[in-house]
Amino acid sequence: MDQIRLDFGNLITPHVDGGLDPAALAGPLAERFRGVHAGVVTRHERGELGFLDLPHSIDSVAQVMELADRVAQSFDDVVVLGIGGSGLGAIALKEALLGPGWNTLSDDGRDHRPRLHIVDNPDPCTFRTLLRQLEPSRTIFNVVSKSGATAETMSQYLVARAWMDAAVGQEKARRHFLFTTDPGDGVLRQIGEAEGVPMLSIPRNVGGRFSVFSPVGLFPAAVCGVALDELLSGAAAMEQRCRTDHLSLNPAGILATVLHHADTSAGRPIHVLMPYADRLRPVALWFQQLWAESLGKALLLTGEERPTGPTPLASVGATDQHSLLQLFMEGPRDKVVVFIDVDDPGMDVEIPHRHPEIPALAYLGGHTMGNLLRTERAATAEALRRQSRPNATLHLPRIGAAEVGQLLMLFQIATVYAGAMYGVEPLDQPGVELSKRLTYGLMGREGVEVPDIPEPDPRWVL
Ligand code: PA5
Repeated sequence: MDQIRLDFGNLITPHVDGGLDPAALAGPLAERFRGVHAGVVTRHERGELGFLDLPHSIDSVAQVMELADRVAQSFDDVVVLGIGGSGLGAIALKEALLGPGWNTLSDDGRDHRPRLHIVDNPDPCTFRTLLRQLEPSRTIFNVVSKSGATAETMSQYLVARAWMDAAVGQEKARRHFLFTTDPGDGVLRQIGEAEGVPMLSIPRNVGGRFSVFSPVGLFPAAVCGVALDELLSGAAAMEQRCRTDHLSLNPAGILATVLHHADTSAGRPIHVLMPYADRLRPVALWFQQLWAESLGKALLLTGEERPTGPTPLASVGATDQHSLLQLFMEGPRDKVVVFIDVDDPGMDVEIPHRHPEIPALAYLGGHTMGNLLRTERAATAEALRRQSRPNATLHLPRIGAAEVGQLLMLFQIATVYAGAMYGVEPLDQPGVELSKRLTYGLMGREGVEVPDIPEPDPRWVL
């Protein structure tokens, strides 16, 4: 398997002014990393970091593949209902590995596998429009919720269930649902058990945003024919590479170290992930959630209350060269950009020789679009470097299952390392609870106090 590579030279002095001192990287930061890594190993041994074991969960993968094959044979449309960590990983895998326009391909083009719709937001326009396109008798809904209580997902389930009941009758409707949820708790599990709905389990010790290699991400991918063995062997290879406590050999250790250092010692709290490939745009959005929800915390592990955490920003090249790049180049020096470069785009398009008499167009002829994109990435990295704007590049040989497996595992391990460096708990998300409770109260959930939200003050409303 070809490894993905992290080139972080443009973060280091003297390549970039004000960069990280190589002596610090080889000295105190490497020393600190040994402690950080040891803490992560201990948490893993205590069974708290279940995501590290997912690439090796052979039984669970076999169950996913068996169910996915049955579903692929019986249905034309698979609709995943899930939000946050229960949706973003599946979207990332779909776009990266099935490519754009999967749902618009012919049956042959999809190898007779189903179309795949992943709906996170309970936006009525999106949902109603989707339902109008579906043939109920050929549709299955995969409801994904670890807690089984998330208002967005459960509202979608209730609507989908009523729609299916009305179309095929209550008795048959349950065969058009599949739940992916906690192995023991939650109302989704209760409903599934009571009604005989097939279920896939998310291991207890795997939280939403760390669940892409659990049935949460694997089932939707498998149903469309993604090679789970390649995906998981990529993830396992990265997990293996990150077993060392030698910072200079551990890619997730380096990524976490340089980004944490940029934030806490160089005033660069904004961490941009910028793949130069449309197919990886959802990977950047997945990373954004992983980094934000894991590291943005009010409480340090020491008990001290101190708002902490970097701000991730998903971007895509070359599109955002015409949008955000001006800010990255000349705006506040508060950002680090991590590019993703793809050696082989999988398919390429040659740019024809035309207008040789016009120098502004002639130079493009004979190159390929893939070549242009890669050149733009390299030129942008160099331009940033010349402006003393630190950046790094993750090089992917191609966008295949094994490479995406490596990439997603790299980010997850970097996140738990970064949690330890920031001194926060990366696995929880207490800050999102208040808005959930207020929503429950306002929506009339029994036992939840209706919040007293002040009416808008007319003086401050135009
Ligand atoms: O990462 C997380 O834990 C969250 O983003 C959850 O995935 C999200 O809130 C959805 O939760 P659930 O899977 O319980 O519906």
